[in-house]
Amino acid sequence: MDLRKINDFAIKTIFHAGDQIRESFSKELIIETKASANDLVTNIDRKIEQYFVEKIKELDPSHKILGEEGMGDKIVTLDGPLWIIDPIDGTMNFIKQGRNFMISIGFFVDGVGKLGYLYDVMRDELIYAIKGEGAFINDQQIGKLKPLKIEEAVIGINSSWVIPNGKINHEKVVKLIRTVRGTRSYGSAAMEIALVVTGKLDAYLSMRLAPWDIGGGMVIAQEVGAVVSNLKGQPFNLLNHDTFLIANPSIHQLLLEHYIELKDEKQHSN
Ligand code: IPD
Ligand code: CA
Ligand code: CA
Ligand code: CA
Repeated sequence: MDLRKINDFAIKTIFHAGDQIRESFSKELIIETKASANDLVTNIDRKIEQYFVEKIKELDPSHKILGEEGMGDKIVTLDGPLWIIDPIDGTMNFIKQGRNFMISIGFFVDGVGKLGYLYDVMRDELIYAIKGEGAFINDQQIGKLKPLKIEEAVIGINSSWVIPNGKINHEKVVKLIRTVRGTRSYGSAAMEIALVVTGKLDAYLSMRLAPWDIGGGMVIAQEVGAVVSNLKGQPFNLLNHDTFLIANPSIHQLLLEHYIELKDEKQHSN
């Protein structure tokens, strides 16, 4: 398998998808809800996923596709070549702000991340990685993350962490927020991962993410030395939703040992 060739294809296709998203701002947006009133999807999310599916099937019909909007294949195994696609990560930001959303794509073979892409459409900033060859931001190599102390860390967490919820040891979350230098919340998991792999955030934690939220970022993370796991320190389950932690390698274990304690594991599997 020629990864360089697939990488060229992916970058070209992502840039063209970005053009289509930017052009969509001059047209009417159709907004619908999915599982709940705050779970939004637009005609553009669907159109862009459909576009990726068509292009990938043209490239190689044997490649499988796992996409958020369900236009790919029904995936029950990680065997073989698999694309994991979130056409717009941060749909709420896309609708409300017209910015702060990403295209996130990962290419895996037998469950091993080979290519990863996080494209900030409005900033026209592409972060990508080829396994074993490093990670790049607009073709500039991204260096390995530098170690730091937890007191110097700026971490991405959203408001659900501040409200006691019975799933997480709340005292430890309070201790974490008091210990770190600052917290941020961006409304796009892919964007928070992009910030961690470029050292602009030092960790990002989530109580529930889907494979398409993190597939692209996972591959980039391994090239810069960022550590990815679920909140129990195990590998993220790419066939399901899971809890999620990405962190600078100098604080990943410390976060798990001293600041994150899941109370009821059963609530986190679905
Ligand atoms: C969502 C965003 C958000 C995260 C949610 C995701 P979507 O993705 O990444 O930041 O908190 O869990 O579902 O639905 O906008 O692609
Ligand atoms: Ca969504
Ligand atoms: Ca998403
Ligand atoms: Ca999405």
